[in-house]
Amino acid sequence: MNLVVEKDDAVTSGEVENPDEEQMELSLRPQSLDQYLGQERVKREMAVYIKAAKQRDEALDHVLLYGPPGLGKTTLAFVIANELGVHLKSTSGPAIEKAGDLVALLSDLDPGDVLFIDEIHRLPKPIEEVLYSAMEDYYVDIVIGEGETTHAVHVPLPPFTLIGATTLAGQLSAPLRDRFGIVEHMQYYTIDELEQIIQRSSEVFHTSIAPEAALELARRSRGTPRVANRLLRRVRDFAEVKGESTISLETTTHALKQLQVDDEGLDLTDRKLLRTMIEGYSGGPVGIRTLAANIGEDVETIESLYEPYLLQHGFILLTPRGRVATEKAYLQLGLPIPHQD
Ligand SMILES: Nc1ncnc2c1ncn2[C@@H]1O[C@H](COP(=O)(O)OP(=O)(O)O)[C@@H](O)[C@H]1O
Ligand SMILES: [Mg+2]
Repeated sequence: MNLVVEKDDAVTSGEVENPDEEQMELSLRPQSLDQYLGQERVKREMAVYIKAAKQRDEALDHVLLYGPPGLGKTTLAFVIANELGVHLKSTSGPAIEKAGDLVALLSDLDPGDVLFIDEIHRLPKPIEEVLYSAMEDYYVDIVIGEGETTHAVHVPLPPFTLIGATTLAGQLSAPLRDRFGIVEHMQYYTIDELEQIIQRSSEVFHTSIAPEAALELARRSRGTPRVANRLLRRVRDFAEVKGESTISLETTTHALKQLQVDDEGLDLTDRKLLRTMIEGYSGGPVGIRTLAANIGEDVETIESLYEPYLLQHGFILLTPRGRVATEKAYLQLGLPIPHQD
């Protein structure tokens, strides 16, 4: 059966969608560990490592941050550099095309600086290999010239800290993963933490939101600060049009309904995914590629963004033969649960 449906913008996706939003994210970004809410274990550990590195006057060990989009990996990388009192240079895996690009970035660092590589699992393999010696012993050997003029050049580097961020740690090669001394797994935020983030963001926006409205938003934000901030922005629009000075619970629930975010925080794409499994494949098992083709999303987005939340909240199960929809998924969509004989 072919269930191809059109792609539409999901308000609760954890990905950055436009320059306007990027601007907003910059203004909302906490600058210090104190302002960074939640992720208590990660913060506690990082505070120790940062303090020790500073006391020894050494570069902090390399840090790998992994977890679904929108949980604050980029934000934390900047916070770490701030706390260390060093500069941060930022790039991403797909942006580095040639080994020379990487060497240029690295040799431009001051001792102790941070190089942040986002989506590090998408670094081309030959470039990844250049990173090994850079991470381990602060040098790179590169080959320059062509044909007869080819020669190797040994480039010493300043001691530096690589912070890598990835949504799919499983796609990182073992040799690269092993070179990170510090590996932190980012968790979904609690409702309480999201509520605090929403209150803080509304202050930055110069708006006010009723506590019960903030709680409702927090409950429906998929455990993700980026989603919380995005929903807050949309809800604020509704309140503004209504001439409301404090965002009310009523306006919030109305706005969320318009945005098609349900009581569990699932959005159109989440429900499309579940519906495809249930109506197209009798609840599964379904392979990830089949699902991706059917709902018009790429495999990586499903694996890094949609699936982790649906799994954590018990809407789907992973089996060796593919994804299976649970009873909870049928109930959430209001579909009859099939008989088991
Ligand atoms: N711990 C946090 N406290 C407050 N706001 C946060 C926190 N983590 C993330 N945010 C907000 O969520 C947005 C997305 O975070 P970001 O670091 O870009 O996520 P990621 O890099 O993991 O996709 C940031 O702009 C910031 O406003
Ligand atoms: Mg990021």
